[in-house]
Amino acid sequence: MGDRLLIAIIAVLHVLINHGLAVGFIPLVTWIEYLGFKKGGQNDIVSNEWDRLAYRLMTVAFIITTTIGAMTGVGIWFASSLVNPASIGSLIRVFYGAWFVEWIVFVTEVVLILLYYLSWKRSLVSIEAKAKHIKLGVALSIFSWITMSIIVSILGFMMDTGSWVENKTFIAGFTNPIYIPQLSFRTPLAALMAGALGLFLTKLFTKNGSDFQKASTKKIAQWMLLTLPFMLIGALAYYFKIPELMIGNLPVAVGTMDFQSWYDLLVKFIIGALTTVLLVAGVIFFKPNFKIPTAVYILPVIGMLGFAGIFERIREFIRKPYVIGNYMYSNTLRKDEYPLFKRDGVLAHATYSPVKEVTEENKLVAGEQVFMISCSRCHTTHGINSVVDKFENMYSLKAGEKLNGDLMKNYIKHIENARYFMPPFPGNEAELGALVEYIKHLQEDGTPIDNQATSMR
Ligand code: HEC
Repeated sequence: MGDRLLIAIIAVLHVLINHGLAVGFIPLVTWIEYLGFKKGGQNDIVSNEWDRLAYRLMTVAFIITTTIGAMTGVGIWFASSLVNPASIGSLIRVFYGAWFVEWIVFVTEVVLILLYYLSWKRSLVSIEAKAKHIKLGVALSIFSWITMSIIVSILGFMMDTGSWVENKTFIAGFTNPIYIPQLSFRTPLAALMAGALGLFLTKLFTKNGSDFQKASTKKIAQWMLLTLPFMLIGALAYYFKIPELMIGNLPVAVGTMDFQSWYDLLVKFIIGALTTVLLVAGVIFFKPNFKIPTAVYILPVIGMLGFAGIFERIREFIRKPYVIGNYMYSNTLRKDEYPLFKRDGVLAHATYSPVKEVTEENKLVAGEQVFMISCSRCHTTHGINSVVDKFENMYSLKAGEKLNGDLMKNYIKHIENARYFMPPFPGNEAELGALVEYIKHLQEDGTPIDNQATSMR
């Protein structure tokens, strides 16, 4: 599967849950609870229908966020610190204080979510208890948003370190240029995702055709119609911060063709998804009596999850070849260390490599190590985005044709010019030779050479 995909699956799942069922969802649930409180009659503390709906929505959020949400959150740490310990190390050094605060806020959030959900039934005993309970929901909403807002700064930093590269202060890193635009996009994005999910769940949780179904879905549709414009404004603010960067990083002509065909498709999907969201919410809000089949309610959910997923993909992709903008490449090597690697070879400085120098005997072992260091963060040997496939396709080899070592050497030497998203090759000539031998070995034979490497350790 490869390192990239492993992190992507865990992290994207986490973001979808975090935005759709926590940051955006808790305020929505609290709002519905509040509506139920306001609608409470002479003798009732709340309107039962509204309160029960809010509780059921919260049950879904509670179960998913405290299980898959929490596990994938920790999973990001496991996966990314295994794949790229150097970049996590750098981020921790810069954002130590922020992460410390984040930890406190996060623990508070966990305590609040337990209190909010588990004390729901007991809050129905008196007006005061219910009012307090709603305040708990507001506090939980605020804390969920703060955890996200701290992490977004770190995400922004990874794309554009801003003035931090010169003065290396925490404040310079925290207030990086992408931070606020990304936060102003993510906040309404989370609210809209929550709206789409809430709408679908409400349709399932309420009696079809009932007045309450009409009233409650109408309120959620209103929530969606109100958040959509903010999301578009946020998206534009964010979008206009991005291209400057991309253009700087993009040796213009190359890479654009691949990107282009992919980009056109994305633009179509995004427009289609948002139009669907707008249409469904619009019809429900303005024409509550119009019968929409339940299946249609799933469309805004798919649209919003897809939209958010694509946004994360773009965010990850456009910062390439860097893992931390202009500072550390995705292969975990720092940009300013490259001259050292060119001089001594990258193996000489590779802590975990069993060989430090390429010789005739250890060529394949050395080549494997060079591959691990310089390509394996993004390429597998035979899996998804396999390095062998990539070369075979690029040279349009027919079945059985062998890769040409000299051509590959030339390509890898200028790899960063061929495709802007790949970091320059870090090693020396001998290491380049070993890498090419290893890739040829992978193509022809493909058996792992782990045994050799182990015996040399
Ligand atoms: C930062 C991640 C990253 C690193 C590191 C990386 N690559 Fe790539 N490489 C990619 C991506 C992404 C693609 C395009 C995949 C696609 O869209 O099909 C690619 C494509 C390629 C291609 C095909 C290019 C084309 O025009 O068809 C070759 C060949 C290749 N990589 C070789 C290497 C080698 C050799 C290394 C190590 C020296 C390496 N890559 C390191 C991400 C990376």
